[in-house]
Amino acid sequence: MIKCVNCNAKFDDNEVIYTCKNCGSVLEVVVDIDKSDVPRDTFDCRRDVLWKYKEFMPVDETNIVSIDEGGTPFCKCNKIGEELGIDLYVKVEGSNPTGSFKDRGMSVGMTKAMELGVDTVGCASTGNTSASLAAYSARAGLRCVVLLPSGKVALGKLAQAMFHGADVFSVNGNFDEALETVTALALEKHLYLLNSINPYRLEGQKSIGFEIVHELGWKSPDRIVLPVGNAGNISAIWKGITEFYNAGYMDNLPMMTGIQAEGSSPITNAFRKKSMDMVPVENPETIATAIRIGAPVSSIKALRAIYDSDGYSDTVTDEEILSAQLELARKEGIGVEPASAASIAGLKKLVDNGVVDKGEQVVCIVTGHLLKDPNTAINASIEPTEIDADIDALKKALFNK
Ligand code: F0G
Repeated sequence: MIKCVNCNAKFDDNEVIYTCKNCGSVLEVVVDIDKSDVPRDTFDCRRDVLWKYKEFMPVDETNIVSIDEGGTPFCKCNKIGEELGIDLYVKVEGSNPTGSFKDRGMSVGMTKAMELGVDTVGCASTGNTSASLAAYSARAGLRCVVLLPSGKVALGKLAQAMFHGADVFSVNGNFDEALETVTALALEKHLYLLNSINPYRLEGQKSIGFEIVHELGWKSPDRIVLPVGNAGNISAIWKGITEFYNAGYMDNLPMMTGIQAEGSSPITNAFRKKSMDMVPVENPETIATAIRIGAPVSSIKALRAIYDSDGYSDTVTDEEILSAQLELARKEGIGVEPASAASIAGLKKLVDNGVVDKGEQVVCIVTGHLLKDPNTAINASIEPTEIDADIDALKKALFNK
């Protein structure tokens, strides 16, 4: 069953619907499982991929479209953690098949598309969604249409969308305008929309929450920190963790902590006013192009997740993002794209200003791989030194002798 998060109106699972027909708000798929039906050790002997938790995935198992997404690294980061005085883990979503967490959502969303029998799927994207959708639609054998904000998509993501064979459109406008355009096409039923307004996308992404809890021995960390753009992922992770909590698998919950870029921060702005009303940011801007979004569609779900979990939201500057990106790469060996580093930058800020307590156990979600945005990485690095293929030249360059 699909339910409106605002007025609780209910809709059939197989209705192609993106917003509530009653009130226009966003929808969620209802999943209600108890440990007496599915004991938690059910998952222990299965392969470490998203579909390990298939009982919680409300789609028909016979149609699964998967590239073995999920089961991503969960790295304890002692160097940065000790400096901050916290117990820090990083969930490395760049290790998914196309290099971002979107693959989890796409696997379940594409499985639903197959169940519905559609022939064309589409999305607007700041890059990663399009890369993922292009790959999963290739795997499923469906036509794929993607709309990208012109000049604002990192190179690796663009290469992926093009190479997997999507019909790629470069839109004269930002992400929010591209999303409005492709949504209009979806409402005329020319394609099945796989942006995160589609509630099945979030069903896949909630598995990040499942994996964290499972890895920590059926306990929640004190806090989960992640970048927020269109606000789907924070909503999905909270949904997953509350489903495990309601099933009786665990007895604590994390403080959901959403970090936005200073120039694109409608969710943080609402949080600062303790409000549920998100006021769109007209011309969002940040170097972290993945989260360059002014009107997040899942704002209600995200703000609820933050308030209900006693969580927090704050902004970071582009400089703080780039410095955290470099620090994670140099101190922990984890290469992420700029948007992902907003979680680390945000954590540092919140430790500094006392919102995060010393000794907390914190999981930062790093959402996309370093190679998604090679230009930013190269610009922040020292050029290779040219030398002759000669040991003396190498010694001179290395040791200056
Ligand atoms: N991090 C990365 C690397 C992303 O690509 C995105 C969103 C986010 C964080 C934010 O997640 O939207 O669920 O709050 N990228 C989308 C895209 C919008 O089109 O690829 P969110």
